[in-house]
Amino acid sequence: MSETREQLEHDVRVGLTDDPPWLPARWFYDEKGSLLFDDITGLPEYYPTRRETEILTAHSSDIVELSGATALVELGAGTSTKTRLLLDAFTAGDRRLLFVPLDISAEVLTHAARTIATDYPTVTVEAHVADFSQELGVLPGPPGRRLVAFLGGTIGNFNTADRAEFFGRLRRAMAIGDHLLLGADLVKDADRLVAAYDDSAGITAAFNRNIIDVVARELGADGLVADDFDHVARWNPHKSQIEMWLRARQDVEAHFPTLGLTWRLPAGGELLTEISVKFTLARLQAELAEGGFRIVQSWTDEAGDFSLSLARAVAGQDR
Ligand SMILES: C[S@@+](CC[C@H](N)C(=O)[O-])C[C@H]1O[C@@H](n2cnc3c(N)ncnc32)[C@H](O)[C@@H]1O
Repeated sequence: MSETREQLEHDVRVGLTDDPPWLPARWFYDEKGSLLFDDITGLPEYYPTRRETEILTAHSSDIVELSGATALVELGAGTSTKTRLLLDAFTAGDRRLLFVPLDISAEVLTHAARTIATDYPTVTVEAHVADFSQELGVLPGPPGRRLVAFLGGTIGNFNTADRAEFFGRLRRAMAIGDHLLLGADLVKDADRLVAAYDDSAGITAAFNRNIIDVVARELGADGLVADDFDHVARWNPHKSQIEMWLRARQDVEAHFPTLGLTWRLPAGGELLTEISVKFTLARLQAELAEGGFRIVQSWTDEAGDFSLSLARAVAGQDR
């Protein structure tokens, strides 16, 4: 059995039998899910991509200079579209760079890596299909000269405990002097937040439902059909997070033959598929310090919607 299949079986067994049931967001991203996410980034309601692009356009040269990096590792890289702004700055004057995009979505990653290798002749591209929520090992590139980019606000998909674990694991994979470039969405008006996750064209709804297709297909489940679910996006002020749920339109009874599991969800019952935590800069700074990073500089777009923080991996006493 492949590692991925084993992980999915584990996640389904643990998540679907919990109350309320949930699934990890990584299962959105088969090839169709990745392409749908790419469509989301261009939607009028989905401000994060435009805001992060604005920050990268203004500050990529600063990031290159402040980090002093010769290797760029990108976690959850997807198509690496915005990352090209960093690549442009890194390769100015034909400088060489090692670029290591990492993602679980193999097709999109491989295609992006190939295109970038063609477009940037001084960049050595080493794509890795891997799960960033597992042990990261030692990162490629020269210790102390690596920049790890984690863009798109993907950090918000971890809950508080998992985020702390992630920062700790990432810090252990890095050396003192390496830098982290972290894109994080900021707290704002709830209506704008909900609209960003419930667009009028229904693309986010299709993205959300795709997780059902992925699980049903990969595990050969009977009775699990995407059309039996409605997309729901909700702001949870207590946890400062957007939540995406799938609400059963009718009673659902799904059989997972390899797990010997029958999962039931009554009509109106809900399955949690994604959280997206929204931050304040103070909270981010405190969490990064706890994880072994010291902020070098944080930037926001002009409207103050989104943030990009450059943080240096430091020894315990230097946080
Ligand atoms: C919200 S998208 C962001 C994509 C891109 N970085 C951006 O800023 O537009 C999240 C990306 O992380 C990837 N991803 C999600 N969970 C992952 C995991 N556990 N390990 C590796 N990649 C993951 C997805 O395939 C997707 O490309």
